[in-house]
This record gives sequence, C-alpha cells and structure tokens, in this order.
Amino acid sequence: MKKKRILSGMRPTGKLHLGNLHGALQNWVRLQNETTYDCFYFIADWHALTSEYGNTGLLKENSRNIIIDWLSAGLEPDKSTLFVQSSVKEHAELFTILSMITPLSWLERNPTYKEMKAELAEKDLSTYGFLGYPVLQAADIIMYKAYGVPVGVDQLPHVELTREITRRFNFLYREVFPIPKPLLTEAPKVLGIDGRKMSKSYDNSIYMSDRGNVLKQKISAMFTDPQRMKKSDPGRPDLCNVFAFHQIYSPGSEVDEIEEECKKARIGCVECKKRLAARILEGMNPIHERQDYYRNHLDEIDEIISDGNSRATKIARMTMEEVREAVRI
Ligand code: TRP
Ligand code: SF4
Repeated sequence: MKKKRILSGMRPTGKLHLGNLHGALQNWVRLQNETTYDCFYFIADWHALTSEYGNTGLLKENSRNIIIDWLSAGLEPDKSTLFVQSSVKEHAELFTILSMITPLSWLERNPTYKEMKAELAEKDLSTYGFLGYPVLQAADIIMYKAYGVPVGVDQLPHVELTREITRRFNFLYREVFPIPKPLLTEAPKVLGIDGRKMSKSYDNSIYMSDRGNVLKQKISAMFTDPQRMKKSDPGRPDLCNVFAFHQIYSPGSEVDEIEEECKKARIGCVECKKRLAARILEGMNPIHERQDYYRNHLDEIDEIISDGNSRATKIARMTMEEVREAVRI
C-alpha cells in the first residue's frame, strides 16, 4: 500500500517550549508512528527570514537546536524525513512559479497576515516577502504532494490558501498536485506562566531545555486561581493553569486528589506547585537525556540533516520536472 505523505514545518525563531511540544511536536511523533503515513518535517528558515531578516545571526544555531529537540521528543530519522527548507532550492523555484499565479487580493485578505503585522508592529513587515509568506508555504506543501498538513488553528488560513493556489495551478496547467488537507491537531491548550498563550514574545514560556532550578522557579511563579488568596480559601482547579499542567504531567489518581484537596482548601498552591515541578522534571527527564546525548554528538545531527536534505531533494527534483513540463518552461 502507498503511504500517505504528511508534511509540516517550524520556523527557527527560537527555542521550543512546552506549547510547541504538546501542541505540535507530540502530534508529529504520533503521526510518524502510524504506519499509514510517510512524514516530512522541516525547518522553515526562509519563512523565518520574513520577520527576522534584520536579525539572522542565530538562525543556524536555532535550526540545529530545534532538530535536537525534535529528536529528543521522539522523531526518528529512520521513520521521518527531517530537512531544512533552504537546503532544497527547488522550494524557491516553485515559489517563484506560484507567485505568478497567485492574485494579490488573496494575500492581502489573509487574516494571519493582518494579525501578524499588527502583533509584530515593532518590526517592519511591509515587505514583499512577508506578503508572499503563504505562497512559499504552498510551495513547501505541494512540492511533496502532501496528503495532509498537521497544523494548529492559527495556520488554517495558510493551508486554505495553499488549497486555492493548488487548484489554480491544476486548472491553468494540468492536474499535477493533489489538494492537501489540514490535519487539525487536538492538543491540550498550554498557557504560559502568566496565563496567556505560551509564546516567546511574551516571555512566559517554559522551554523544553529548562531544567532544575530554572524550571522550579518558573513553576513557582505561575499564576493560579486569582480568587484564591489564602490557603483557607477553596480553589477552583478548572480555572488554574497549574492544574492544567497537572493534567498533562501527573497520573490520574494524583490529578483527582489535587482537584479535591484544592476545592476543599486542604492543599496550598505552594505545595501543589512543588508537586507539579517534580512531575514535569520526571516527565521531561528522558527528553533532557536525549538532548544531552545529541549536544555531545553534533556530528550525528549534521548527518541526519544532510541525509534528510537529500531525501527531500530527490522528491523535489522529480516534482519540479513535472512542474516545468506542465508550465512548458
Ligand atoms: N507557517 C508555519 C508556522 O509558522 C510554518 C510553515 C512553513 C509550515 N511552511 C509550512 C507549516 C508548511 C506547515 C506546512 O508555524
Ligand atoms: Fe491551582 Fe493547585 Fe492552587 Fe488549586 S492548589 S489553585 S490547583 S495551584
């Protein structure tokens, strides 16, 4: 049976945090381990340039660290193809061709475009490349004739645009590409220590690399039920981010116990956080061990990347031959 191809990417704009781990990465690992899928995961470094063009010094280091975190979380190079976008130049060629057939109005009305521009107001995102972000993403996806693209809700408009651009290509030239489907990830919502969405720009993240006292300190600083001032006040675990993390990291029996003790004001938040810190440290330990291993074996990382790059390039070359023939260029 022919396996269905899955493709997704991350921009190397910084270290990965627990939001990335539980929101995306664990789902990637799950898809990798389903035998019906052939998974391609890549570092979208050209996409990172759309906002970081003035600050490129850390891109390579970030890319390598992210791949280390991918492997530490359980992605395996024998099962998944892990590669770097800028090493497969065919993405740029397909991007150029798709740019010619994408109406400006489709890009200008893209909600993610408007939001990001407003959110990152301190950066000048009035560039041609930033407007074309979804066209490059479309090239990434259809290059591998992906069946499915695992993404979070924030990326749905981009996948929808990919589908429209793909239909337009197929209509103008010929049916080269299947129309990719978004595979919406069902994941626990991971909030930052201040209760907002976990994001490096809010400085509220717990990173996959945080350990020991750094981790304990961040957990002790976490916001809890805002109405619980004293230990004698009954708490509302369903409104407490510490409890949300217990649901990810603690065994069910402990979660039930904490829920009850909190509601009856029999456990204090300090104690509850200490127990959480211990659970997270325990849960993250195998990941931290693998991080240590790979940091001491960077040559293995380089080999994994170059192997992934050549696997991806092979497919990209075949696709581009078909594309050039269809476009007659
Ligand atoms: N835009 C995606 C993000 O910010 C990253 C990305 C680039 C991507 N190309 C992709 C995701 C192709 C899925 C498929 O998260
Ligand atoms: Fe949250 Fe735990 Fe405090 Fe209850 S005891 S409010 S669950 S931190």
